[in-house]
Amino acid sequence: MNADLLVVGSGFFGLTVAERLAEELGLRVQVIDRRPHIGGNAYSEDEPTTGIEVHRYGAHLFHTSNERVWEYANRFTAFTDYVHRVYTRHDGEVFPMPINLGTINQFFRAAYGPEEAKALIREQAGELAGTDPQNLNDKGIQLIGRPLYEAFIKHYTAKQWQTDPMDLPAAVISRLPVRYTYDNRYFNDTHEGLPVDGYTAWLERMADHPRIEVALDTDFFDDAHAFSRSKVLGQLPVVYTGPVDRYFDFAEGELGWRTLDFEQEVLQVGDFQGTPVMNYADDDVAFTRIHEFRHFHPERDYPTDKTVIMREFSRFAESGDEPYYPVNTAHDRERLLKYRDLAKGERDVLFGGRLGTYKYLDMHMAIGAALSMVDNKLVPALRAGSTLE
Ligand code: FDA
Repeated sequence: MNADLLVVGSGFFGLTVAERLAEELGLRVQVIDRRPHIGGNAYSEDEPTTGIEVHRYGAHLFHTSNERVWEYANRFTAFTDYVHRVYTRHDGEVFPMPINLGTINQFFRAAYGPEEAKALIREQAGELAGTDPQNLNDKGIQLIGRPLYEAFIKHYTAKQWQTDPMDLPAAVISRLPVRYTYDNRYFNDTHEGLPVDGYTAWLERMADHPRIEVALDTDFFDDAHAFSRSKVLGQLPVVYTGPVDRYFDFAEGELGWRTLDFEQEVLQVGDFQGTPVMNYADDDVAFTRIHEFRHFHPERDYPTDKTVIMREFSRFAESGDEPYYPVNTAHDRERLLKYRDLAKGERDVLFGGRLGTYKYLDMHMAIGAALSMVDNKLVPALRAGSTLE
């Protein structure tokens, strides 16, 4: 294929850019991905012995209040009416999350109304009122009071970061949502659901265009193919959605990420936990949560005698690990600013997506950001035949 543009990365950001430019501008778009499959972290596949759809890189729930993104997504997939809810185990009991009136009344063995519950939490949070919390632990107590913080946040956060919250910066949390109703719907967005035929079918439909070609197992930094950095720069405009520090050969140092380890198991029972996601708030187990994938699609005809679960463990990423969540220390932010300057100076290359911008982006945000890049930067520049800036 003679391409007009190269997109590095076939996640939601890269595929949205590719689809729009192929469809709207009639360009020939080459997409490459270093992984053996399309779709970035939203990729899913059926577990072979059960047929149950498993989200390979952690559970993905689609939700958005952005009408444009919702309309765009619906061009490629229909959505189920799935509504996400999360529960958490603490001290031998199961509580609804995020913390709500149900959680509070169960925890304090009470029957408070909203105003009584608010007064109680205000009083408990008052322990550190007027102080300037210097670590996440004190911030947590100041936000929701010691009892709820220590039960539901402290150990879970310690497991997420593999660090005592006393040693984590207060800035890691700005607020801890507490709902003074019994509403335990996890997301507040206008639209929510799961793709009827799964994530991979949705992603494949985005790429299924006569002017889009996708090459897998193809790393931008590997010179063995025609679309490597050394061959393409200066020849083709590029939209790069890989890690920004890698692009510049880590010239300003590596940006910090947290990664996840997943332990998947097929169990010979029809239902293991009765719900899609169970958090484990205590420190007696090392994992943070268990996903049970059959519950994401109760409408499907899955086997009734088997189920697939996935335990999730969290830790700091080392070289070679999958980067999942930006750590975002002051040091990282300083480096990021330098990388942003370098990126601005790069002719005919635009950086996007969660890795290219070092930002946690939900799927709807990645799609929305890609649509904006197409409208505001790519279409005007490519129509005018000028370089990308
Ligand atoms: P993404 O990472 O998906 O794609 C980038 C692609 O670039 C990858 O395929 C990678 O292989 C490729 N690449 C990198 N370097 C390359 C190179 N050198 N050469 C070639 N290719 C290269 N969102 C949400 O809305 N609801 C949810 O429930 C969740 N859940 C969730 C759980 C976990 C654990 C994580 C980490 C993330 C989520 N997300 C989410 C976020 C979601 O995964 C995210 O919005 C998308 O992955 C963003 O898409 P991008 O295209 O930006 O990146």
